[in-house]
Amino acid sequence: MTKRLYIFDTTLRDGEQSPGVSLNIHEKLQIARQLAKLGVDIIEAGFPFASEGDFRGVQAVAREVRGVTVAGLARANFQDIDRAWEAIKDAEQPRIHTFIATSDIHLKHKLRKSREEVLEAAAAAVARAKQYTSDVEFSAEDAYRSDPDFLCQVLAVAIKAGATVLNVPDTVGYATPDEFGAFIRKVYENTPGIENVVVSVHCHNDLGLAVANSLAAVQNGARQVEGTINGIGERAGNAALEEVVMTLHTHRERFQLETRIVTEEIYRTSKLVSMLTGMSVQFNKAVVGKNAFLHESGIHQDGVLKERTTYEIMNPAMVGITDTNLVLGKHSGRHAFRERLAELGYGLTAEELDKAFVRFKELADTKKQISSEDLEAIVEEQIRQVPVTYELDYLHIFSGTTVKPTAVIGLLIEGEFLQEAACGNGPVDAIFKALEKATGTRHDLVSYVIDAVTGGTDALANVTLKVSDAQQKVFTGRGISTDVLEASARAYINVLNKIVFDQKTRKQD
Ligand code: KIV
Ligand code: ZN
Repeated sequence: MTKRLYIFDTTLRDGEQSPGVSLNIHEKLQIARQLAKLGVDIIEAGFPFASEGDFRGVQAVAREVRGVTVAGLARANFQDIDRAWEAIKDAEQPRIHTFIATSDIHLKHKLRKSREEVLEAAAAAVARAKQYTSDVEFSAEDAYRSDPDFLCQVLAVAIKAGATVLNVPDTVGYATPDEFGAFIRKVYENTPGIENVVVSVHCHNDLGLAVANSLAAVQNGARQVEGTINGIGERAGNAALEEVVMTLHTHRERFQLETRIVTEEIYRTSKLVSMLTGMSVQFNKAVVGKNAFLHESGIHQDGVLKERTTYEIMNPAMVGITDTNLVLGKHSGRHAFRERLAELGYGLTAEELDKAFVRFKELADTKKQISSEDLEAIVEEQIRQVPVTYELDYLHIFSGTTVKPTAVIGLLIEGEFLQEAACGNGPVDAIFKALEKATGTRHDLVSYVIDAVTGGTDALANVTLKVSDAQQKVFTGRGISTDVLEASARAYINVLNKIVFDQKTRKQD
């Protein structure tokens, strides 16, 4: 008989802990809405005690996103738990997720607590959380490197105090599949009361085994898997949920487990997360990489043309990769534009549609054929952005092998026109300097990535950059254009708008 497996998504919490990733409240909401569409069971929206921004992000998700459990993370102390509850209390199904480390190495060097103290803290934390909500998850951080007997003792105490989900993380990604599977079995056999709760696993990917370890745990009775979209997260990341789900689906006869995931939403979710976090997906990444369904060798192409399953174990349509060659051009009207977006799964408001249509027309003037990928890039660039303080009016560049690169930029600052010019090492440097002069700001460029949305020399350039402010907070910006320099300017302006928005929201606190 097919049993249910719960999918716990922590893209907004562990995923946001990826180095250089910082999402604002709009971005968190955008991802959370898409996760709900994808059909995850639980969205861990953040760590409310960590910062005011985190608190607001979790609260916004809890208040707005429906049809899914919203979890807030809390260490095993009352302050964290009270704050987590405050943030999630308006969720349709709120969950408090509290944790404490159980390995000797963490007890000795990090917590400086005895085993007895950890047992007490775990029981007290779960009991406190239970006063607020019936849905309480307890995690034993670094469980896999803990003494199994002590771990089972802590888990038993958590069950007694009212935990409904017990999470057994491989926090440092140390496990191998057979050993992790056996470990989960042992936990089942030695924890009184475990048959009444859901056992969860949370695997990190330091050895590239997070997905394999999660699946081994599932084969040994785990009924919740925690992970992130595209596998982002601390260090080498977490288990990639899209890989877990598609393995369960591809081998459904063997696993006999069912999830609520709408697999056709996988690709869109992956792209959204990649765009908003600024973490590109490697081309050969399983399930969602650009090359995951491409066939290069003649023999393979011939085979797939004759029968798809000769070289494809999954149908790309199943993960939402549709191969439609329908393109739009500068003569396409609003109606066709709206229809095409609807086919791609975008239901825009009239205002969003207007904005996207204006940008589509601008781009269609310089690029003859606008493909589905271009349309997606346009929509993602235009809609649901932070409020616009700075807007590009025009850009002139002087550059070449024998001239000093110079940028002249026309900028609208809250509607007021300003012109500024600057020289730089290269044209991009000149643009950024001109923008800094015009806005009176100075930031460190952390990374600058440019890629083409499609093939062809007239492809849209997609620039993603990260800058850090005086507090070392990292912001991600993105701009597209057929002109790489204009795309660079747009990406920098996008970042500046995000920084202004962040400053304004912090002032309100
Ligand atoms: O990796 C880990 O152990 C965690 C816990 C907080 C669940 O992220
Ligand atoms: Zn983790």
